[in-house]
Parts: sequence; structure tokens; C-alpha cells
Amino acid sequence: MRKIVFANRKGGCGKTTVTINIGAALADLGKKVLVVDLDSQAHATYYLGENPYTKKGNLFEFYSLLIKREDINYDNFIKKTLFKNIYLIPSSSFLNDLDLNKIKGVETKIKELVDSLKEKFDFILFDTSPSMDIMTKSGLIAADEIMIPVEMHPLSVKGLAQLVREIYKINKEYNKEIIISGIIPTLFNQRTRVYNAVLEELKKIFPEEIIFFGVRHDIKLAEAPDHQKPIIYYAPISRAAFDFKVIAKRILRLKSKINGKGNKRSEENEK
Ligand SMILES: Nc1ncnc2c1ncn2[C@@H]1O[C@H](COP(=O)(O)OP(=O)(O)OP(=O)(O)O)[C@@H](O)[C@H]1O
Ligand SMILES: [Mg+2]
Repeated sequence: MRKIVFANRKGGCGKTTVTINIGAALADLGKKVLVVDLDSQAHATYYLGENPYTKKGNLFEFYSLLIKREDINYDNFIKKTLFKNIYLIPSSSFLNDLDLNKIKGVETKIKELVDSLKEKFDFILFDTSPSMDIMTKSGLIAADEIMIPVEMHPLSVKGLAQLVREIYKINKEYNKEIIISGIIPTLFNQRTRVYNAVLEELKKIFPEEIIFFGVRHDIKLAEAPDHQKPIIYYAPISRAAFDFKVIAKRILRLKSKINGKGNKRSEENEK
């Protein structure tokens, strides 16, 4: 079982798109996938066909029970989606009404939740918000791997060094090692100069082995959330559906490692 968190403080770089669609592509390859929506914007929840405007059966209820110190049955928070092999722990747009700081050890609660479920899934994927808030931190603590979607724009690279520093700070604080196992370029056209320039910058920061080809700009992908369908179902023969199938296969092959300092070479082991 692999636990992967998708994170980047840059808003709109494709975190939710990548989480849902990698999940769907892995599920299509026969893997059992759980998506955990750690963003109170609840976009992933909506994308997978669940209602974000409720306080029941989602992370609002989960955290509310923790605040009230009531018993929790973890299974109550897993929703089967309409899509084969994809399950969801939904977020709620009411989450911002809660003061999560009232919960002792709040940042490890998502880890406890998913670790109780790990026999049931091949992949647990966490979508996070564009801020380093309690829930994003919870994802970084719960996961073993982080994948960073990067919009191929010159300014996108600037925030990455800081993100990597924050990841290692959390590692240290919680005495664990999260591995950066993928840099996923998004929203690009590979024929442009800017794409090549940003790719060169990424190669200076990260080992080439973990930089994926990524997901090209595709209008179908921007349309898919409104239809509440992952791209492989919404537009199965689109460019984006192709790109996500390639990513999913590579994730299944790849076991990469960056130990410690962020820009050591990684090891790629073919299974
Ligand atoms: N490769 C792509 N081609 C075209 N549109 C895309 C692509 N990737 C993402 N989008 C669109 O760009 C917008 C931002 O994507 P997304 O919501 O996945 O970003 P995000 O990082 O999750 O944003 P936030 O930081 O707000 O959570 C969405 O409208 C999405 O449909
Ligand atoms: Mg998002």
C-alpha cells in the first residue's frame, strides 16, 4: 500500500486535477484507490460526485467528533464513488467553521484514520489546499511519498525550494521521512520556450528520475470537473487521458527515493 500526498502551495497548479485523475487511472489498472480530500474548498469531493455542502459522513463530522471527544468508527467516512475501485473520504465546505486547534495532536489524526484502513487499499491519495494549514500538514504526516504538481510557468519554480524546506521541517518535527517521489509538470505545451526553460530549472532542483513527463494543457481536463467525471471517463481518447495513463503506469513502476536533503539522486527500482 502506498500513501501519496499531492502538495504545492501555489494555487491552481493542478493538485486536485492530478490527484483525482491519477487515482482514476490507477483504479482503471485494477488498483483499489482511496482519495482523501484535505481541502475545505472540497473540489475533489465535488469532482468525485459527492456533496461538499454537508456536515455528515465527511471530515467535518470526523473533526467534530474529535473536538467532542466522542468515539469514531473510521469506516463511516469512506464513500464508494460511482467509479470502479475509487473511494473517497470527503471534505466539507463547513470545515472552516471548526477550530481544529482544540484537538490535541490534531496533525496526526488523519494518519491514524488512514492507517486503520490501509489493508483495504492499494493507494491512498491526499489532495491538499494551497496553504500549509493543519490539514495539509496532516497529509504530509500521513503519507510516505509526496508528489508535487508544477505548473510550467517561471514563477512556479520560485516557491519550490521553500516547499521542500517545509517538508523537511515537518519530517524532523514528526521524526519521519517523507520521500519526494514525483514532480508532475502540468498545464504546459511542450513546444514552447517557457516549458523548456522551466524544465531546465526543475532539473537543477530535483533528480531527473523523479520528473514526470506530466499532463499537457487540455481543455477537456478543464471541463471534466463540471461533469463530475475523471478524464478517462469524460474524454477517454483525449490527450489528458493518455497522459494520466502514462503517469499511472510509471507510478506503478517507480519506487524512488530522495533521502534527507532534497536534491540527492534518486534510485529507481523496476518492480
Ligand atoms: N492540464 C490541464 N489542462 C487544462 N486545464 C487544467 C489542467 N490541469 C488543471 N486544469 C484546470 O486548472 C484549474 C486549476 O486546477 P486544480 O483545481 O486542479 O488546481 P489546484 O492546485 O487543485 O487548485 P487549488 O490550489 O485551488 O486547490 C482547474 O480549472 C482545472 O480544471
Ligand atoms: Mg485543489
